[in-house]
Amino acid sequence: MCGIVGYIGNDDAKEILLTGLEKLEYRGYDSAGVAVRSKDNTDLFKVKGRIATLREAVDSNVTATTGIGHTRWATHGQPNQTNAHPHQSTTGRFTLVHNGVVENFQELKDEYLSDVNFVSETDTEVIVQLMERFEKDTNDTLEAFRRTIELLHGSYALAVLDHDAEDTVYVAKNKSPLLVGLGDNFNVVASDSMAMLQVTDQFVELMDEEVVLVTKDHVKIQKLNGEEVTREPFTAEIDASDIEKGTYPHFMLKEIDEQPFVMRKIIQEYQDENDQIKLDQDVRQAMADCDRVYIIAAGTSYHAGLIGKEFLEKIAQVPTEVHIASEFSYNMPLLSEKPLFVFISQSGETADLRSVLVEVNRLGHPALTMTNVPGSTLSRESNYTLHLHAGPEIAVASTKAYTAQMAVLVILAVDTARAKGLTLDFDPLKELAIVGNAMEALCDQKDQLEKIAQEYLQTTRNCFFIGRGLDYFVGLEGALKLKEISYIQAEGFAGGELKHGTIALIEEGTPVIALATQEHVSSSIRSNVSEVVARGANACIISPEDLYKEGDAFTFSDVHPLLTPLASVVTLQLISYYAALHRDCDVDKPRNLAKSVTVE
Ligand code: F6R
Repeated sequence: MCGIVGYIGNDDAKEILLTGLEKLEYRGYDSAGVAVRSKDNTDLFKVKGRIATLREAVDSNVTATTGIGHTRWATHGQPNQTNAHPHQSTTGRFTLVHNGVVENFQELKDEYLSDVNFVSETDTEVIVQLMERFEKDTNDTLEAFRRTIELLHGSYALAVLDHDAEDTVYVAKNKSPLLVGLGDNFNVVASDSMAMLQVTDQFVELMDEEVVLVTKDHVKIQKLNGEEVTREPFTAEIDASDIEKGTYPHFMLKEIDEQPFVMRKIIQEYQDENDQIKLDQDVRQAMADCDRVYIIAAGTSYHAGLIGKEFLEKIAQVPTEVHIASEFSYNMPLLSEKPLFVFISQSGETADLRSVLVEVNRLGHPALTMTNVPGSTLSRESNYTLHLHAGPEIAVASTKAYTAQMAVLVILAVDTARAKGLTLDFDPLKELAIVGNAMEALCDQKDQLEKIAQEYLQTTRNCFFIGRGLDYFVGLEGALKLKEISYIQAEGFAGGELKHGTIALIEEGTPVIALATQEHVSSSIRSNVSEVVARGANACIISPEDLYKEGDAFTFSDVHPLLTPLASVVTLQLISYYAALHRDCDVDKPRNLAKSVTVE
């Protein structure tokens, strides 16, 4: 979603900002812009479309050592050049970039700015016009900034330039993430540390209700009441080479291929010197103390949660519910006496989850976040964190984070079972190693999966995924993957549910991808396949070796039956990838989607 960068120092600001915005491209956006402050002017460059277009639009003759930049994912107003950020106040004195949504922008316009001629359709422009209005009243930029942010309702991360003041970037946030990066004779601002790893790995977290003044050699953090705050920087532990594509044509393919290594990394991180599970004692205790787990997640992470429920109930005998975060926020079910909330989020920044977490914290219930980004908002605001160790995931379509989520969930389930004294004939670390090998073998069979994608999905309008039990949940994920990157209308169904309505949609040639990985339902899912084939469907059965039957389209090496989702989903990821590729879709940056969904 929207991204912010800012630079103040001695070097060419525009180059650092543009490179920073390129690093944020993976988050999804529809327009972009930069503003650079030189002696005479604050110059604005904005475009609809890609950063490459912005690069061409930026005047290479402009020299400036201070600036801000933005990638926009439209919420208020069309994705066009006028609505792109940065926005300027009427006189051009203040220039601003903003992530988030100002919920009361219309009220603010009516109350304070009825005489102002607005240029854009955005909620954001209100903020910069308020700055100008309050500066006129007070003759004090900091005071104007403070007054402005006190009036804003909703979520925001802001960086503002004042052309008339000394070189300073004014920064504040509420709910949306924002960091200040520290350097020698320069400082930077970024909504995601990845944007500025090119110049520093030292970052200071900003909190809600703070006002921050960034100059090239100082960062001053104040609470809204003026009280000064000191905060130590942290080191961003991301290897810059992890965020390069290398020889891969797409991040998605690279990330699919990385899954065997992610499995090995998880084993390494969650194993002690005696080859036993290593888990934070507090997490273990929280699991032991709860009478029910409430998993809260969205999209792909929700699908991992559905599998997690099976693990927690079947292995650890912990009653578990899985909820879509955006539904839970507005419709909280009756809670058990001792609930434990588990937030599953690759990014750790998803706004729908955060609004549930705020409520959970208010109610005083314990919260555990499972995330790929340990310093993220959800991780910071929860009592406990479990790290997914998947490495940066750049493609919008989540792949390796999903399998990492399931791997960490199974470790958590087994650890809980052992802590309860349950006898288990199941070593998750050994089983995950087998999964890693199966994934590797699978990734070596790309040609076969590419052919399947061509045969079944090259020209189709729609596609169904069916399965029973765990396979049903994997089918939901397969359908999400396919629709988001290839734009094929795809749906996942429980095999037995088809004849209750959906089978009406089956016609000559309709692709139906069936997962048959669970022995106890193998014959029922195969009967469901016969039912659709009898009505003209083009069925593609995927099975593990020990359940293979002649005619199956693809088979993968055996893994523990509970862990088949971690292997079978890789086939669906690759089929989706090739389907999108052969339909000429932008695999890594599908239309309308954002990597990190920071608005509700
Ligand atoms: C789909 C996908 C999304 C995310 C969802 C939640 O490929 O990536 O469905 O899973 O937006 O995001 P996180 O896990 O970051 O909370």
